[in-house]
Amino acid sequence: MPHSAAIVENKSAPAPRPMLSGRDLLSISQLSVPEVGAIFATAGAMKQDLTPFAGSLAGRSIIGLFEKPSLRTRVTFEVGPQKLGAYVMYYDHSKQRIGERESPKDYAKNLERWVDCIVARVYEHRVLAEMAEHASVPVINALCDLEHPCQALADLFTLREHLGSFEGARLAYMGDGNNVCHSLMLLCAKLGVDFTAITPKGFEPQFSVVRDALSDAKTTGARITLSHSPDAAAGHHALYTDCWVSMGQDHQKAIRDGVFEQYQVNEELMQKLAPTGQWPLFMHCLPAHRGEEVTDDVIDSPRSIVFDQAENRMWVQNALLWHVLARA
Ligand code: CP
Ligand code: NVA
Repeated sequence: MPHSAAIVENKSAPAPRPMLSGRDLLSISQLSVPEVGAIFATAGAMKQDLTPFAGSLAGRSIIGLFEKPSLRTRVTFEVGPQKLGAYVMYYDHSKQRIGERESPKDYAKNLERWVDCIVARVYEHRVLAEMAEHASVPVINALCDLEHPCQALADLFTLREHLGSFEGARLAYMGDGNNVCHSLMLLCAKLGVDFTAITPKGFEPQFSVVRDALSDAKTTGARITLSHSPDAAAGHHALYTDCWVSMGQDHQKAIRDGVFEQYQVNEELMQKLAPTGQWPLFMHCLPAHRGEEVTDDVIDSPRSIVFDQAENRMWVQNALLWHVLARA
């Protein structure tokens, strides 16, 4: 099957109809290709003109539970749904994790009586899974140790904006084989986008995620490649990186020190990747640690699309929430 047979959008199609009603989103692997297409189509329509969607989530209540810090996720999940008429409540869980005071099951069974949707950023994926199992309302993963699905949706939406289509698209990720890398790999495999993960030895993406991505890639034709060499980033349309120590991994700082330096995305690497032509696009989920995984000359260059990614978090998440919560 050719690459990116995946998403076909009919630009003259009537206004989209909700198609993920009441569903959870804990992992990219829960989405089908048409569902990703629907989210992207709705995000594009909302970005162009939000007017037809105004008030579409009126009367809906969303709670955002955050065990970890956030700028982009918190703001986009608050400001975005408010534009659609929803009420959003932020609940700070940084001082007491979900499950400490009462079980995630009981927690979810309380929340479902009051709110229409739970958005949660947690340390452990199992907490999300337990809440999703017991809550009758949808649970959306706003980042956990395993995945960051809303980020990957915004990233691929942004990449397509810049490339025009996914046809023949190639994305390289360099750094830690972490939550962001996992969701990107799964989504690229699903959409027929070639994906190369370049990590130090011992920091590769999890086997189960690679296995799932390879399974989807069999259908879409995406090439999924794992490498330890920064040279493997050659020939890609975009190069993505993320922090070397994720939230919750501070205790690993000592074993990570000195391991990642050769994986820094800097001008020298970009010149090497594109000796005669233009650099690949530069992507980062943010926050960036300037001088560590990326240098100023790259992140501030015209090839950097990091703030487009940040903006699109809001459009893609609004589209997701609309598909999950809007009344048909
Ligand atoms: N990219 C992202 O999730 O940013 P925050 O941690 O600021 O939410
Ligand atoms: N991998 C990073 C992503 C931050 C948005 C973390 O989990 O901290």
